[in-house]
Amino acid sequence: MTNAAALDFDHVELLIGAVENAADANAKAVRNTVLSPRFYTTDFDAMDKLNVEPVRAEWDTMMKEYEGDNNHDHFQRDAAFAEEVRVLMPQLSPEMRQEFLDFLISSLTSEFSGCILYNEIRKHVTNPDIKQLMTFMARDESRHAGFINQSLRDFDLGIDLGQLKRTKSYTFFQPKFIFYATYLSEKIGYARYITIYRQLEKNPDKRFHPIFRWFERWCNDEFRHGESFALIMRAHPELLRGVNLLWIRFFILAVYATMYVRDHTRPLLHEAMGFESTDYDYEVFRITSDIARQVFPVEVDIDHPTFRACMTRLVELSIANAKAKERGGIFGAIGRAVTAVQAVFVFGRLYLLPVKKNELPADIRMQPTW
Ligand SMILES: [Fe+2]
Ligand SMILES: [Fe+2]
Repeated sequence: MTNAAALDFDHVELLIGAVENAADANAKAVRNTVLSPRFYTTDFDAMDKLNVEPVRAEWDTMMKEYEGDNNHDHFQRDAAFAEEVRVLMPQLSPEMRQEFLDFLISSLTSEFSGCILYNEIRKHVTNPDIKQLMTFMARDESRHAGFINQSLRDFDLGIDLGQLKRTKSYTFFQPKFIFYATYLSEKIGYARYITIYRQLEKNPDKRFHPIFRWFERWCNDEFRHGESFALIMRAHPELLRGVNLLWIRFFILAVYATMYVRDHTRPLLHEAMGFESTDYDYEVFRITSDIARQVFPVEVDIDHPTFRACMTRLVELSIANAKAKERGGIFGAIGRAVTAVQAVFVFGRLYLLPVKKNELPADIRMQPTW
């Protein structure tokens, strides 16, 4: 049985690599692996044809919230921030520093991924509803990415976002896949940030960096971004039935599994906050699954013993794969191929587990009450 405590730092270093200078940090942000956040592009003409009339009342309420912009002054550092960084950062162990940098770089990359996608959609559509939404969401994500980048600059590891935009490769997803994946990643983003915020609210001695003080108001932006995709999908109910239910199931599992494996490469980070990676991830799954009932008619059973066993197995296979990569040569290549095939089978087992069915609520919008 693998748990966070059983992962020694060698494994972690194999999985996350080491960042020593700005070139390493930028290279890490550009690199695409199975676990790293990606950049996306889509079919802009299809985006232009979306029609939100069926959810007009809820849509207009949401747009007023975006216009109100209650976080317009939030992403500025206060006087205490620099002082906390100055006092706390030298206390991090080298291993912990690497995990925290990995966390900052992957968070920045995923915030910036949203910023680019929303901004590209904004530029390519004339549909006023979609254009307005994308303008607001790109605004928020650009603040989020910029705020994380300031914290990387404290380490002299700032990411050149213009360069990243030009050099990282883009994955094409048709709009419905963008909706499933982005809805989930926004809601998971909310669940991750609020779970950390609540934990550190109860245990302020474990708040090892001031950025976590910003997470409460920050995560409400992510929550609202998720609401926007929920409304778009509910306005197009064909996206939520028939063969698309199989796609929804696929995306829920892919997003959950990726997060689980990635978080288990950072055991020290969670330990420093007083979490165990596994418990943290199940709390995030639980919140996300609760929220996703607003839009997805199917739900994976996160408490099924096979679900849990498969998640653990994926972490083990990821470590075995990283070790094989390090070994190199023909045996390393064989090892990597074998572990990759095994991971596909484990994912297949997850996919075949029974799902729970949900009746979708008449009122689509939810409040961020976690
Ligand atoms: Fe964000
Ligand atoms: Fe977001």
